[in-house]
Amino acid sequence: MLAGKRILLIIGGGIAAFKSLDLIRRLRERGAVVTPVLTGAAEEFVTPLSTSALAGQKVFRDLFDLTDEAEMGHIELSRAADLVVVAPATADLMAKMAHGHANDLASTLFMATDKRVLIAPAMNVRMWEHAATQRNLATLQGDGILCVGPNEGDMACGEYGPGRMSEPLEIVAAVEAALRDGPLKGKHIIVTSGPTHEPIDPVRYIANRSSGAQGTALALALLALGAEVSFVTGPADVAPPAGAKVVPVQTAREMQEAVAAALPADAAVFAAAVADWRVVSESTSKIKKDGSGALPVLEFAENPDILAGVSQLKTERPMLVVGFAAETDDVLAHATAKRTRKGCDWIVANDVSPDTGIMGGTENAVTVITEDGADVWPRMGKDQVAQKLAAKIAETLA
Ligand code: C5P
Repeated sequence: MLAGKRILLIIGGGIAAFKSLDLIRRLRERGAVVTPVLTGAAEEFVTPLSTSALAGQKVFRDLFDLTDEAEMGHIELSRAADLVVVAPATADLMAKMAHGHANDLASTLFMATDKRVLIAPAMNVRMWEHAATQRNLATLQGDGILCVGPNEGDMACGEYGPGRMSEPLEIVAAVEAALRDGPLKGKHIIVTSGPTHEPIDPVRYIANRSSGAQGTALALALLALGAEVSFVTGPADVAPPAGAKVVPVQTAREMQEAVAAALPADAAVFAAAVADWRVVSESTSKIKKDGSGALPVLEFAENPDILAGVSQLKTERPMLVVGFAAETDDVLAHATAKRTRKGCDWIVANDVSPDTGIMGGTENAVTVITEDGADVWPRMGKDQVAQKLAAKIAETLA
């Protein structure tokens, strides 16, 4: 699976570095060529000798190592790989990467590479949960950096929680996924997902029950077929898909801007449950009960229809535009009319009446409406709907 693939493995300075030695073995067993780089701190945990012995290669350590520069400059080193893997990615390395520092070999390689980067974070649970680390993670994922783990469990420092580096075989699986060639390789697909939150005042908002599960499953299925995915998501219940370029937004208008910024794309799938209206009377301070019994009156304005806007673009219209239609009655008729009204190519319609348990659930029953008519799919898991839809998209874009 990894035969001949070149992995530049940056090992950061954490106790999990010992697992990276096993990772080298596992990658090489599958035919990968592993070029290891040790940060200064990593050398406190594993030695250059054991690392190079396992890699069967020279270990790169110092930005200003003149021999290395003569043989292979750091720019070339960063580009000669098919994938850059950072394992363990410590809090410090993640911070440097998120802020564009380039003051040692590891951070410079990250800045100079034109290849995909996969990080396997490992750190103390408090450090992982710290707002700064979570901010840095969001920045990195927004930049399209892939992330595997961390896992939850006992930690070397005696605490318990998320922060353990993924096991070597889990990292290998993520490496394989990142390097997978699929029918959508080279295709850029935008996926919107989740609900939007429309503020009433600084503490209140209008939202809906979308969990983001279907959009996330679809993004994962598209990634698995090799697509590059821009994932524009409102505040969802489920974690965003690893491997996508994640753009978190709150409101419909922010979603519209993020979609516009993500264009051009080969396809765009609008799985988000966008609020139809926003509160124009949004208050900048918390609306208070004043004791008089007077009730607040909210004034609404219609939100931009992102799907219709993209479907009707003159230039930059993706070749394939797919909308979703969540209906509670007369699903087929409404969805068919919606396809024409919005100008999209397909509508994926589903019945979200409360008794179906679809909204927020794990299953979905959809009908795909195209110019050829309606195709009724049996009820199945949202993952399966996603895979079937991704396969249909791949067939259409081929
Ligand atoms: O009109 P309705 O909301 O039922 O249409 C649903 C489809 O339109 C979904 O694909 C949804 O993502 C998209 N949509 C949108 N922008 C809106 C409203 C809906 O992109 N403002």
